[in-house]
Amino acid sequence: MRRIGILASGTGSNAQAIIEKAKAGILEAEIALVFSNVPGAAVLTRARQAQIPAVCLDHRKSVSREAYDAEVSRILAEARCEFVVLAGYMRLLSGAFLKTWPLKVVNIHPALLPAFPGTHGARDALEYGVRLTGPSVHFVEEEMDRGPLIIQAAAPVLGEDTVDSLQKRIHSLEHRIYPQAIQWLVTGRIQVEGRRVTLSDTDGSLAVPPPNSLIWPPLEEGF
Ligand code: GRF
Repeated sequence: MRRIGILASGTGSNAQAIIEKAKAGILEAEIALVFSNVPGAAVLTRARQAQIPAVCLDHRKSVSREAYDAEVSRILAEARCEFVVLAGYMRLLSGAFLKTWPLKVVNIHPALLPAFPGTHGARDALEYGVRLTGPSVHFVEEEMDRGPLIIQAAAPVLGEDTVDSLQKRIHSLEHRIYPQAIQWLVTGRIQVEGRRVTLSDTDGSLAVPPPNSLIWPPLEEGF
């Protein structure tokens, strides 16, 4: 079973969704480690409750980003992690770290990249007035929220939405697409060519035709 390390800074609802899919045997990976840069982060409690090793290293105590990331890399390697999953990890990873883990680090972002990168993807999309938005899972490159896209999901933005209600809708999609993306990753089904990701179709599941386009607001009769 492939071993993954989750890096997270906060609540950890995505970490939880990944842990549950792995425990259920649907995601064929072992969560070898949950790591946080924030002492007391809720994600650490979630990990311990699931009997997963939880490690915290306060980034404020480190001399430099490079030194900190080297230590994180060492901790991941010691736990024999093969893949690194960012789940609300609120730090940019250094180039040296990413060179150590080439095409092994993935992230989830709460907007349809390349729109609305940055720390407030849902709020920015709502304020901009887009009609559809939703999460993106992508490989991590040095530039924030930029690497090749693995899976995206679209949700409508409703007239009465607040940042909170929109974020909830996005989160529930995140909890479905992230474990799926990780399953593709750990089972070796992802190929990357330049910016484009393709999935090998070994089990035939991609043979189904894609669904009709999601248009929001919906079209009226006759259009
Ligand atoms: C998610 O919205 C994710 O898209 C972003 O950080 C948030 C983490 O939420 N990168 P949680 O800690 O998994 O609940």
